[in-house]
Amino acid sequence: MKPVSYIVMGVSGSGKTSVGKLLAQKLKLPFYDADDFHPTSNIKKMREGNPLTDEDRMPWLEILQREISTWEHGGVLACSALKESYREVLQSKNNIKWIYLKGNAKLISERMAQRDHFMKPEMLDSQFEALEEPNYGIHLDITNPLDSLVSEILSNLIPMNLSNIGIIGMGVMGKSLAKNALSKGLSVSVYNRLTPEEAGIIPDLISEVNSPKLNGFTSLEPFISSLAEPAIVLMMIPAGEPIDACIETLIPLLHKGAILIDGGNSFYKDTQRREQSLKLHGIEYLGMGVSGGEQGALHGPSFMVGGSFEAYTKVKELLDPISAQDPFGYKCLGYMGADGAGHYVKTIHNGIEYAEMQLLAEVYALLKPSLNNEEIAEVFKEWNEHGLGSFLLETTIEILLKKEDNQYLLDFVLDQASSKGTGTWSSISALEMGVPANLLIEAVIARSISNLNPLRTKLSKSLDTVSYASTIDTEMLKEAYQFARILNHQQGLSLIAATSEKENWNIDLSEVLRVWTNGCILRSELVVWLIPLMKEQNNLLTHPEIFTILKQSEVSVVEIIHQGMEQRTPLPCFSSALNYWYGITTKDSSASLIQAQRDAFGAHGYQRTDKGQGEWFTSQWNSNG
Ligand code: 6PG
Repeated sequence: MKPVSYIVMGVSGSGKTSVGKLLAQKLKLPFYDADDFHPTSNIKKMREGNPLTDEDRMPWLEILQREISTWEHGGVLACSALKESYREVLQSKNNIKWIYLKGNAKLISERMAQRDHFMKPEMLDSQFEALEEPNYGIHLDITNPLDSLVSEILSNLIPMNLSNIGIIGMGVMGKSLAKNALSKGLSVSVYNRLTPEEAGIIPDLISEVNSPKLNGFTSLEPFISSLAEPAIVLMMIPAGEPIDACIETLIPLLHKGAILIDGGNSFYKDTQRREQSLKLHGIEYLGMGVSGGEQGALHGPSFMVGGSFEAYTKVKELLDPISAQDPFGYKCLGYMGADGAGHYVKTIHNGIEYAEMQLLAEVYALLKPSLNNEEIAEVFKEWNEHGLGSFLLETTIEILLKKEDNQYLLDFVLDQASSKGTGTWSSISALEMGVPANLLIEAVIARSISNLNPLRTKLSKSLDTVSYASTIDTEMLKEAYQFARILNHQQGLSLIAATSEKENWNIDLSEVLRVWTNGCILRSELVVWLIPLMKEQNNLLTHPEIFTILKQSEVSVVEIIHQGMEQRTPLPCFSSALNYWYGITTKDSSASLIQAQRDAFGAHGYQRTDKGQGEWFTSQWNSNG
């Protein structure tokens, strides 16, 4: 198949060069001006004011015809091509799309008078005499502005097929998902609001992607009309109020049976509420966790879907090609359960992510006094290649080694970590559910402490301490790190299990882990390893293999924390892991005293070890009692 070339034709002064150049830019094709290919005899004749004859033009047209056939990817040519016989020469052996710029003699002669062209205005009459308008191609009225002429060409060239999916919000994630879907052969309509700051987003994306399968919109009505029925619309906009506002605008536009998906990091209770209210309008609502950041969205993210199973099955075949592939050959796309289950699983994914990030930060802090960035990266590389491979570890290695002007960029990053809410929601959920997920909670608190920067700076100045650098045993550290990670994942999964039971979601934890094996931020060898164990034992702590590893790592964890404390390195997540481990493996805990205190000042009652469970007692605990 020959590449398509575009010839913008019309009499001199009709704007062929301006239109051709802009069109070439939009289509990312080279631009050519046919006048540049005239034999010198023709140019001389024209300069002398003599009109060219058909015989004069033939060699020129043949040169052009041969030239076009050498354009490997096609091109845009501005050429008068006034007669049918000329056009026949040009399109023989070439695949040409014709664009005819139509205008009247008066307007064109006014334009020509304003510019210095070797074609003198008086010769225009002979051009109009020669002109045989084509009865094919795209005809444009040149009184319209240049931009709209080119838009008209583009929309004529791109046949408007109904799209498989519509994506609202062309931020980083929305745009990347749209490109990903297009690369998998899906046709995609995209919408972005039209504000002065965002006005360029849709036109830029259209010219960047240059695909006949992409339709761009800045108003919602035609966007929805461009979708195949039932309309599948994915919102990739900030969580909270913007989602509610978007839903309100969409309700009157969507037909019954439409499927609306929220792909943001929304709070699962909001998703439950929205799903219920959209049901009343006959619209299916899916809350979908999308993990993997920009690169994941572009090349294959992990999708955690919640909502009705029927709606999920309708969108599955669209999401399937876009999602990452797991190590077993399936896609990292999973149905988590009803209503808010997908968003809940994504929230806890992020909670675990917070603690995983914090653990790496603590390891970095432990090693920093005695090793430079390159040496720390070497330690991490060894771990990454020998059993602890993970996306976050790889990313951390890249961060450690990144230099700007020959200096480590990380050394210039202010030590204040922001957050967008999912870590806090995970922590609140853990506290509400009574699930002791202390690592993710501590990771949120560590970010809060990081943000008390002025206070930290002030207090540190008032402290007379001698800084002390321990020589950390990296083998012990590796063991301690894996110990803490196992507990972090176990805690997050237990939290999902508890909430799933409360909400009747029936979440399959091994399926959650499978969906996390690729595409997402948590992807790691650990996640892959946990899948079969989770199938054998719903609580990882009681799995013999896990328990043995934890038990054997205890010594290393204690030693690492001891060294960290000596060098004044805060280790909130490592310490939480050890405290949790001690707590969860202690038979007779000090909670007896707590319950006694509760009874002493509030008569809340207590159960006795020497009596049966469920029998409650209360006592007068003070000495006068
Ligand atoms: C993901 C990430 C993604 C994002 C978080 C960061 O799975 O792709 O978790 O969702 O990085 O929003 O959250 P914080 O801004 O709260 O750290």
